Amino acid sequence: MNKELFGTDFKWGVSTAAFQIEGGCDAEGKGPSIWDIFSNIKGKIKDGHHANTACDFYNIYERDLDLVQHLHIPNFRFSLAWSRIMPTGLKPVNQKGLDYYDRVIDGCLERGIEPWPTLYHWDLPHALELKGGWTNRDVVNWFSDFTEVCAKQYGDRIKHWMVMNEPMVFTGAGYFLGLHAPGRTGLKNFFPAIHHAVLSMAEGGRVLRDLCPQAEIGTTFSCSHVEPYSQRAWDKSAANRADILFNRLFIEPILGLGYPDKELSLLKGIRKYMLPGDEDKMPFDFDFIGIQTYTREVIRFSLLTPYLHAKLVKAENRNVPLTSMKWEVYPEGIYPIIKKYNAYPQIKKIYITENGSAFPDAVVQGQVDDQERLAYLQTSLEQVLKAKNEGCKVEGYFVWTLTDNFEWAEGYHPRFGLVHVDFNSQERIIKSSGKWYAGFLKP
Ligand code: BGC
Repeated sequence: MNKELFGTDFKWGVSTAAFQIEGGCDAEGKGPSIWDIFSNIKGKIKDGHHANTACDFYNIYERDLDLVQHLHIPNFRFSLAWSRIMPTGLKPVNQKGLDYYDRVIDGCLERGIEPWPTLYHWDLPHALELKGGWTNRDVVNWFSDFTEVCAKQYGDRIKHWMVMNEPMVFTGAGYFLGLHAPGRTGLKNFFPAIHHAVLSMAEGGRVLRDLCPQAEIGTTFSCSHVEPYSQRAWDKSAANRADILFNRLFIEPILGLGYPDKELSLLKGIRKYMLPGDEDKMPFDFDFIGIQTYTREVIRFSLLTPYLHAKLVKAENRNVPLTSMKWEVYPEGIYPIIKKYNAYPQIKKIYITENGSAFPDAVVQGQVDDQERLAYLQTSLEQVLKAKNEGCKVEGYFVWTLTDNFEWAEGYHPRFGLVHVDFNSQERIIKSSGKWYAGFLKP
């Protein structure tokens, strides 16, 4: 396989997120985000890991951008930490925080790398969480002010923006299951958070379009191919309900189709948080949709799961190969997911803005020979190519991720990087997968 098969305009890249790599948790006026608070509460993160320093990208970003260049990766996706730019989430701005991303963006451009910022990758300013966070409808205005600040500051150099990263994960894990920051639970938090995230995503798109009319504007969604545990009717309908929740809940209101609550009546609870006129504010005509996928999910009927009557059959109980996340190694899942999103005529263009795998890499004589990750990557790309050759509008692929980093509630255990990190010395080693990607991308 060679990259020419994907066409000359295909966007190749690598993705990262501020909180997972930067560290510099209180550097130069940065305010705490919900993740700074959450990750320093005992028991929330595996083995008490926190991200106060993480990969130290805040200080050594130039070294890592050199690596991106060295690996011939033309597009670098990163996120802007809201509380670095606006320490309380609201004005006034922190000039030093603004300057930092100027340096990161300029550092990309000087190296011939295209910067692809995401405005929100889960790190809400803690001060806003104290006002209710995503459950408070005012978040739509807070977020649109933040978007405006970023668009005005960086818009002259940014050709591709992403508004949000995976709203289903930060609302589901953060406001329903309590496994992620801010650790809230229950439908009374989940439903308003969903609706305000949808409104903010669309509003963020409108602000960017207004201030950066030349830029390409997108947003990203988590998605997983869902299969029923058996062909029995009740497992199939359980799988359909899970599919609505995992794969359709956020994209459909954005595309103007409304919440998929006719098929999953549980979601009717969102209506309580809707005001007259909201239906018109939920859609936005994004230039591209970023889809991010890692594995597949197998679902069976269960009376014991309230509301949904469906449960995951864990990969560890299915006798399948596992990644360090205990997810099934199933790179083939990217193909049906592309097909599924491709079937929405309202979607103009798809980029795979994250795809990757975590394995327990070993450093042997200064080398990391991560053959499993390499195979995963190659199979994924074959599947993307297959979908593209069948006419799907998939136009880009970004590996998750550049360096091993802070994997949220799992701490530093799962390693997803193309580049290995020693978190004591901050030493980097390019893994075999990274070398392969570099060779594949080499002009
Ligand atoms: C997120 C990343 C995360 C990755 C692997 C995605 O859900 O956007 O932040 O590290 O998956 O879990």
